[in-house]
Amino acid sequence: MAVAATPLATHLILAILLLLGMSLDASTAGGDAHPGYATEEGACGLLNDDAAGGAVPALRRLEEDRRRIIDITHAYVPDMPDFGTGAVIGPVLRLRESMENGSEYNLSELHMSCHVGTHVDGPGHMNQGHFAAGRDVDKLDLQVLNGPALVVDVPRNTNITAEAMKSLSIPRGVRRVLFRTLNTDRKLMWKKGGDLSYVGFTEDGAQWLVDNTDIKLVGVDGLSVASFDHLIPAHIVFFKTPDIIPVEGLNLDDVEAGIYMLHCLPLRLVGAEGSPTRCILIK
Ligand SMILES: *[C@@H]1O[C@H](CO)[C@@H](O)[C@H](O)[C@H]1NC(C)=O
Ligand SMILES: *[C@@H]1O[C@H](CO)[C@@H](O)[C@H](O)[C@H]1NC(C)=O
Ligand SMILES: *[C@@H]1O[C@H](CO)[C@@H](O)[C@H](O)[C@H]1NC(C)=O
Repeated sequence: MAVAATPLATHLILAILLLLGMSLDASTAGGDAHPGYATEEGACGLLNDDAAGGAVPALRRLEEDRRRIIDITHAYVPDMPDFGTGAVIGPVLRLRESMENGSEYNLSELHMSCHVGTHVDGPGHMNQGHFAAGRDVDKLDLQVLNGPALVVDVPRNTNITAEAMKSLSIPRGVRRVLFRTLNTDRKLMWKKGGDLSYVGFTEDGAQWLVDNTDIKLVGVDGLSVASFDHLIPAHIVFFKTPDIIPVEGLNLDDVEAGIYMLHCLPLRLVGAEGSPTRCILIK
């Protein structure tokens, strides 16, 4: 059956082309972690084209998505827990110039560890080979950091062991998982001071994930992806596979188990093995 190209149909086709264009841009990026620049002009050209009126409904739909964004990033405050019993991160901002003291402007500078609050680990964090090979946070794959993700509830009476991983029955093909644990119930990331009894992966839990799943982004709601007793060994298991990205210190307070779109954007800190990152979920 032939369908006449009504204005509505034209708009739909253009909207689909626009979306297709976006996903093609993303997929041609391949291994390049930063594909954004080359495609910007093309996207603007399409939007400016009078014939591309179909872009408007598509953009409106994207606008409506704003209501369903869940921010899963913790705010940086001096009381935020750091890695150590009772440790806090302290002030991360300092006014270098201040209007209070006669300057014409306020200007702050940052001083912080790259591994506090909501942050990613680069593969060089505990693997000298990757570090020497220049696998810093700037090279992390944005395709892994952005995409569909599963939020799962880990049984509250255990660390993330092989046994616990098995019980979660995460299907093959799932590439991003955020593990909601006892840490969220205990509000550990809200406590004024670090608590090393947080829940994280044990060495056998990490190994089970590597051997039996396709997970590349491992998100946790505690200070570290690895439980304190397995701090180094569990990290080492993950970093054997340099394309696994741990995302630590997520705020999963208002998130239910389920499927979401995840977006994590670490800073382009060349040479760094960790970076603060803004992470959001879109339902
Ligand atoms: C202003 O200057 C005083 C004296 O150097 C300093 O103690 C204070 O912290 C400064 N205030 C701000 C907001 O920069
Ligand atoms: C500039 O910094 C001072 C000192 O902290 C603060 O009191 C003031 O509100 C700031 N002003 C602006 C415009 O941010
Ligand atoms: C998880 O392991 C830590 C030590 O690494 C321990 O302090 C904590 O009690 C364990 N949590 C659970 C729920 O088993």
